[in-house]
Amino acid sequence: MTVDPAPADVPATAAAEVEFISLTHTNPSTELNPLPSRGIDLAFVRRYVRTLEDGGFDATLLPYASNSADSFVLASAVGQLSERLKPIVAVRPNTVFPTVAAQQLATLDQLTTGRAVVHLISGGSDTEQARQGDYLDKTERYSRTSEFIDILRRSWTETAPFSHAGAHYRFDGFGPGFPPYAGPIPISIGGQSDAAFEIGGAQADIFSFWGEPLADIRSQIDRVHGIAAAAGRADRPRIWVTFRPIIDRTEDLAWSKAQEYVERIARTFQEATHRLGFKGEPQNVGSQRALDFARRQEVYDRALWTRTAAATNGNGASTALVGTPETVAAAIVDYIDLGASLVSIRGYDTLNDVVDYGRYVLPLVRQELAHRKATGRRGSLQADHPGALATAGHQ
Ligand SMILES: Cc1cc2nc3c(=O)[nH]c(=O)nc-3n(C[C@H](O)[C@H](O)[C@H](O)COP(=O)(O)O)c2cc1C
Repeated sequence: MTVDPAPADVPATAAAEVEFISLTHTNPSTELNPLPSRGIDLAFVRRYVRTLEDGGFDATLLPYASNSADSFVLASAVGQLSERLKPIVAVRPNTVFPTVAAQQLATLDQLTTGRAVVHLISGGSDTEQARQGDYLDKTERYSRTSEFIDILRRSWTETAPFSHAGAHYRFDGFGPGFPPYAGPIPISIGGQSDAAFEIGGAQADIFSFWGEPLADIRSQIDRVHGIAAAAGRADRPRIWVTFRPIIDRTEDLAWSKAQEYVERIARTFQEATHRLGFKGEPQNVGSQRALDFARRQEVYDRALWTRTAAATNGNGASTALVGTPETVAAAIVDYIDLGASLVSIRGYDTLNDVVDYGRYVLPLVRQELAHRKATGRRGSLQADHPGALATAGHQ
């Protein structure tokens, strides 16, 4: 698809505000420079969190895997190391009973004066789920997530004891539960299966994506919003998109850096694959989609680059935005124009990239949105920085 880099008006779908999200790294190891230690480097975490806050980030994801640090414990620490940053706790419903998760999240929310967010992960790999005793298939896992959401909300809002007997959970006389700081905690859904859309559209406050081409994200957003409307919702889930930006002072420098990075990232991924014995096509639809985009084309739209996805078998958030800070900021605004109001950017050079994004990217996006608010018109960011739209190069 081609995007006109200089359309006149702000589209009706555009989000008026944006919140920037990062991912909390717990030590200096990166895909570019993997270090053997898997432990928590507390000094690094302190510095990372402080840098996020100084750079103007709004939130940070605490991811979850069977071999990761515990996302709840880490979220609590992040909450105490920051003043404004929202800890987004990734939770897999198979790992915790829903009333207990409600209690943990409400506690985190109180400890952070209302900053807690939960990101529900239904599980994208049967092998990974089995590591912690979960043998449900994906359809059943999403049905459990749906029930989990209902119980979380009731646990936060019911004013008298209540009982529940569902397909996955049963309990009697719970409540009133420990309350969040000021009302229910935002619930986000990750996943691109049909069931993720059904549940996310009907029940979630936030629906999240990895970085996809604009045309594809547009139809996915329409799908989420259509399901929300069909479910009789007055509101719509907020949209979260995720990228791995690679920026430098000029377009050429950024693209050379990207080429150098992808070789290093591929090497790291191959060594980890060899060591841990991963193989085959990923089972999660989000990764399958990323690989499909990568097979079709290397560069999409203004700055989306898929070679990083191809090099890592679409593992996790893996599509990049490449260019100058201006081009990458303009590319982010392209997604804001489609309705994304939560933008996750985390680089391959984790801590240094937080500094650079905070200094060079976030202010440009915010300046464009402030201009729109003041004038009702688009600023010049997108028109002045066409990136890959200006050439057929880099393909
Ligand atoms: C923004 C975002 C963050 C995610 N974070 C995690 C995570 O921390 N841990 C995890 O196992 N999966 C994570 N996922 C992956 C999906 O939620 C996961 O693959 C899903 O459980 C099933 O995927 P599917 O519906 O696409 O097949 C994340 C996905 C998105 C979009």
